[in-house]
Amino acid sequence: MNIRTVSTQPFSDQKPGTSGLRKAVPDFQKPHYLENFIQSIFDTQEGLEGQTLVVGGDGRYYNRQAIQTILKMAAANGVGQVLVGCGGILSTPAASCIIRKNNALGGIILSASHNPGGPNGDFGVKFNTSNGGPAPEKVTEAIYQRTKVIDAYKILEAADINLESPGSFKLGSMAVEVMDSVQPYRSLMESLFDFDKIRQLLTSGNFKMCMDSLHAVTGPYAKAIFEKRLGAPEGTVQNGEPLEDFGGGHPDPNLVYAHDLVEVLFGENAPDFGAASDGDGDRNMILGRNFFVTPSDSLAVLTANAHLVPGYKDGLAGVARSMPTSQAADRVAEKLGIDCYETPTGWKFFGNLLDAGKATLCGEESFGTGSNHIREKDGLWAVLFWLNILAVRGESVENIVKEHWKTYGRNYYSRHDYEEVETDPANTLMDRLRSGLGEMKGKTFGRYEVEYADDFSYTDPVDNSVSKNQGVRIGFTDGSRIIFRLSGTGTKGATLRLYLESYEPDGSKQDLDPQEALSDLISIADEIAQIQSITGRKEPTVIT
Ligand code: G6P
Ligand code: ZN
Repeated sequence: MNIRTVSTQPFSDQKPGTSGLRKAVPDFQKPHYLENFIQSIFDTQEGLEGQTLVVGGDGRYYNRQAIQTILKMAAANGVGQVLVGCGGILSTPAASCIIRKNNALGGIILSASHNPGGPNGDFGVKFNTSNGGPAPEKVTEAIYQRTKVIDAYKILEAADINLESPGSFKLGSMAVEVMDSVQPYRSLMESLFDFDKIRQLLTSGNFKMCMDSLHAVTGPYAKAIFEKRLGAPEGTVQNGEPLEDFGGGHPDPNLVYAHDLVEVLFGENAPDFGAASDGDGDRNMILGRNFFVTPSDSLAVLTANAHLVPGYKDGLAGVARSMPTSQAADRVAEKLGIDCYETPTGWKFFGNLLDAGKATLCGEESFGTGSNHIREKDGLWAVLFWLNILAVRGESVENIVKEHWKTYGRNYYSRHDYEEVETDPANTLMDRLRSGLGEMKGKTFGRYEVEYADDFSYTDPVDNSVSKNQGVRIGFTDGSRIIFRLSGTGTKGATLRLYLESYEPDGSKQDLDPQEALSDLISIADEIAQIQSITGRKEPTVIT
């Protein structure tokens, strides 16, 4: 067994963002770049020797090469066993599931989520801990500190492992198990949802669904679950082959990037139900016939209907949402008499709440929904949850959501993204906003009066850790909100996100186009933040 110790020098840009280290592929291909980061992960894990690690990714360009490097480095660093998805494929939720099922020390997930892939696209490395969730900030910070001083890494000299079919291998003294990427995840889903009922719905002949995997990781999972296990006709899953460049598309399930699916659901003879997921399978978009369900509403509807689903029929401990997510779920929680938590953006902030049994369902406006079954958001889980509700209630998606609004009121909601803005103006805009916060309270803008204005700070109720500067919020006396933050996941320039929300309890006023219902708030946001004049942008790049 030949372990090489290779000298290296630190890279100054290996600070993990909202969701791991994300860079353009050519950055990761720089000599030692990937190795430095992986060794920094290993160096900061106590008791790594002899432990189990899970490794897999979303199939994007560089996935396979990176896995071979990671396997050889794991062997050289004394890891006992690595479980790796067949073909290098593991969706993020499947990786979380496998980490938990096998009591692994953690996992390395190779993905840049919804960012485009290919030789000039993005790549990413994320470390998840033994609970199956993204490493908390103290862990990512320790990894970052290590990347700044690293001077060597260890790697085994060995031939590549054949990842293309399941099998057991040895790399030095480390065991490598190339495993079925789908099976553990599918059986977890079977334990939560009423597969018989969903099967009846999907084979009844009067319900049609369409799932768009956007040539990303959920293709094999969706085919195995919807077509093979639940009896939906072949072709229900479109774009189901994971491709290294996602077919040139942008694997983000929203109205803009999943436009093919949107056209189908808003076209003639539209199916009853449509869904899409992102590059690594943790995001979801839910559509009914001619109807879009906002992720915020989706969380609220799932919370209100959870008692209809076997895995959640005994009630929910609580619900959690990220701060910019609409307050629709809060109203359901109030009615159910359960706690509702408001966390910063980033799924990792739900980890402690889930581990401590304080929250059962979680959701984010950024098309993420999930529960305590794993420690990641879970795209196909959300689709199955909706199907289970549809199968029990026998109503359309649109009816279910509109009925929900009648009961709880409608939280009109929209997010405006200004992508690839230059970094300096974006920072100027945020700095200006922050420095003006003190004078906002009591100010009026048309019919809106400011009730509070702050830069969101979160104290974790489990470990009391404090996360500051998580986004500027301006809340109005009628419950409306305008929120500004800079994305933590982009790789080019800065992305300004503007989140808008207003509340409409009156059932006769709940059918407006959100852009129309929110038009006053949209102008107020520009007046307050001077978006157009500071960024030079006349309009957002993406509206969802
Ligand atoms: C990733 C994280 C989410 C987060 C989202 C948006 O998908 O897993 O938890 O909400 O990014 O982040 P951003 O910083 O780009 O708004
Ligand atoms: Zn993702």
